[in-house]
Amino acid sequence: MSALPDTASKRRPLLATAALLLALVPAGAAFAADSLDSRIGEGLFRRMWVAAPTATQAADGLGPLYNARSCATCHPRGGGGRPPDPASEGDQGVGFALKLSGDPVYGRQIQSNAILGQVIEGRPTVAYREETVRFPDGETVRLRRPTHGVKDLGYGPLAEATALSARVSPRVHGMGLLDLIPEAELQAEADRQSRDGVVAGRPNRVPMDGVPRIGRFGWKATHPTLAQQDAEAFSLDIGMSTPDYREPWGDCTPAQTACREAHHGDSKQFEGLEIPSTVIGLIDAYLRTLPPDGSLEAPKDKAGGALFAATGCAACHRPSYTTGADPAHPTLSKQVIFPHSDLLLHDMGDGLADEVPMGEARGRDWRTTPLWGLNRLAKDDGRLSLLHDGRARSVTEAILWHGGEAEKARKNFMDLPRDARKRLVRYVLGL
Ligand code: HEC
Ligand code: HEC
Repeated sequence: MSALPDTASKRRPLLATAALLLALVPAGAAFAADSLDSRIGEGLFRRMWVAAPTATQAADGLGPLYNARSCATCHPRGGGGRPPDPASEGDQGVGFALKLSGDPVYGRQIQSNAILGQVIEGRPTVAYREETVRFPDGETVRLRRPTHGVKDLGYGPLAEATALSARVSPRVHGMGLLDLIPEAELQAEADRQSRDGVVAGRPNRVPMDGVPRIGRFGWKATHPTLAQQDAEAFSLDIGMSTPDYREPWGDCTPAQTACREAHHGDSKQFEGLEIPSTVIGLIDAYLRTLPPDGSLEAPKDKAGGALFAATGCAACHRPSYTTGADPAHPTLSKQVIFPHSDLLLHDMGDGLADEVPMGEARGRDWRTTPLWGLNRLAKDDGRLSLLHDGRARSVTEAILWHGGEAEKARKNFMDLPRDARKRLVRYVLGL
């Protein structure tokens, strides 16, 4: 069951429900969005889903096992998350999730929450070992190397072969623009890199409706479209069914019988699902309007940009792309954008590797993270959680973890005079 009738393709009935849905948008919320759809979508992004069954049936179907009740819980103000703080007992972090290589009982992700009467799968833990890196000029930086685990396992031990990969939630602004970069452009960039031989980025390829597509969203570029990424979030993180992931029990395996047999919110009038395509479309419309401003412009610091290129960063963190034409999204079409990412996979070495391959991404492969807007929200809390598991607390730490294809760029950075290092970091924070 869900929020909206099945009116995906019909505008008028959709607008008719707008007043109802707008009532769900918190009063005084700062709308990044301009159109009605995206305002409704923002309400749905923030909506706290509840367990089925409910009398109103307006927002039920949560879980039975889940990580968080809303998108916004893990992507506060569209921003990214942070890992649990081992120094503060019981802290679960924000938007932090443990992916599994595919466990026969626990499935693809540890769900650390459950509706009433169900047992949680466990609580992710992180422990850090500190290491010191010394620059040639004597300055030192402390890095923290994480080890992840799960405590309070609810369904017996994990299988011996099950590997863990920790992820923090990425920032989600600019997604609509990244969605519109033509696949041919991504392939052309990979071809160029393979000719130039400096780095060796390649696209992840994942089947979608039986056709291999280039992935671009997620830390390992496992999702070809924004809508598909949103649908997986409903399934894995919130435990709700969508047209792409039809099981109402989300990530529960056949071994988790109580979860499979619990009340579900699927309903005939909503495409037989908990979340119909209409809702995905509205959330999509909201995400497409982020960011409102700022990082859409070319960086003003030209000298910083030259240093970024000379150090070897721009080889993967490609400054700009041009979006394709899409009549459905005229304001996002044919825009020169500055994400500072090629959106391709790169071998980043053993220091960052996991043992959870996804699509064609192996353990050492990660998608170049777009750097735009990196500091936009961090200013508020003054500390960063960078890289896929949030281990790096600063841009400097993040760079020092770069290995594999980025080894040369890391060395170049180490050898820069202190002033130039600071300059480069400032440039990245200003994107
Ligand atoms: C439990 C926390 C959690 C919840 C709830 C959650 N997400 Fe995420 N989100 C993540 C994590 C972690 C990732 C990175 C996944 C990966 O690649 O391993 C992610 C990735 C994404 C991305 C891709 C960003 C990029 O840079 O490629 C989008 C878009 C997104 N989420 C949207 C949503 C939407 C929409 C919802 C609600 C339906 C949602 N998320 C709910 C944690 C969460
Ligand atoms: C070989 C390709 C490559 C090169 C060269 C490279 N990077 Fe990266 N960068 C990546 C990938 C891939 C990631 C994601 C790694 C992860 O999360 O485990 C990343 C992540 C980052 C992050 C963390 C962003 C975030 O939000 O988590 C920063 C900051 C960064 N790079 C800056 C730089 C700078 C500065 C340079 C030059 C000194 C550089 N990178 C060179 C590929 C590269």
